[in-house]
Amino acid sequence: KKWFAVMGDPIEHSKSPAMHNAWFEDMSIDATYIPLHVPSDQLESAVAGLKTLGASGWNVTIPHKTAIIPYLDELDELAQKMGAVNTVVRTMEGKLKGYNTDGIGFVRSLEEAVGTSHKDKPVLLVGAGGAARGIAFAMQQQGYSHLSIANRTVANAQAIIDEMGIGRAISLKEAEETLADFSIIVQMTSAGLATGNFSMPFSLDLLSKGAIVADIVYNPLMTPFLQAAEKRGATIVTGLGMFVHQGAIAFEHWIGKYPNTNSMIVQLKAQLG
Ligand code: ATR
Repeated sequence: KKWFAVMGDPIEHSKSPAMHNAWFEDMSIDATYIPLHVPSDQLESAVAGLKTLGASGWNVTIPHKTAIIPYLDELDELAQKMGAVNTVVRTMEGKLKGYNTDGIGFVRSLEEAVGTSHKDKPVLLVGAGGAARGIAFAMQQQGYSHLSIANRTVANAQAIIDEMGIGRAISLKEAEETLADFSIIVQMTSAGLATGNFSMPFSLDLLSKGAIVADIVYNPLMTPFLQAAEKRGATIVTGLGMFVHQGAIAFEHWIGKYPNTNSMIVQLKAQLG
């Protein structure tokens, strides 16, 4: 029997075990997926343990996405660029290869909701942390050519733009004032996340009619940012699709087949309300 895991700290709230186990069951795959609580000071021994015990692969979540890299044998191109790994595959030769499926998961979710015809439209990415970096690189790789990054600390946005070699960095104030220019807006800040007390990075008063507004947070499903956008008639993309697709892409790396993302999104939506 193959087995997989997710390592993080904290880990008890992760929805990944239920999601992957449901896919294994649906697809009659003889495998299981378990949550592992791994504090930072035990990361190295945890990786060695997973290798010894024969895990076929695992997901990596906060706070280990960058710290795990020295313990892996190879990285794929996006993981290398992002300097972060969320999926590990044990290859046929027994090597550990790191991938990052978060950014591509976001692009899949976006395109599942609104199609692929927006690649040359102006996109506003809001936030410049780890999650934002991944999405910016993935959008560039997938052909989105008109990227602006707004952030509270503009220098952090500028650093990502410099690495990508395209786009521009702006302040949150400038984003708010020029909002009407953007067709797709992606909220990727952690404003208020820690306390569960969500705040808006800026006002959506000038949002254009017909804009597409996405958030990478999925719990709650309708963040204040998405609620405000929906009130103004925008097409909404919740963070749930990104979560499910990052898992599905990891699953595909391990199993070689893409699982049913639609029914998973429906199931999780019912749980999250
Ligand atoms: P993650 O891994 O989720 O991306 P992170 O790397 O800590 O988290 O990044 C947090 C992001 O949220 C950053 O863009 C941060 O802005 P700064 O670069 O200026 O720190 C943004 N952020 C956090 N709290 C915020 C707040 N109260 N208002 C606006 N932006 C905020």
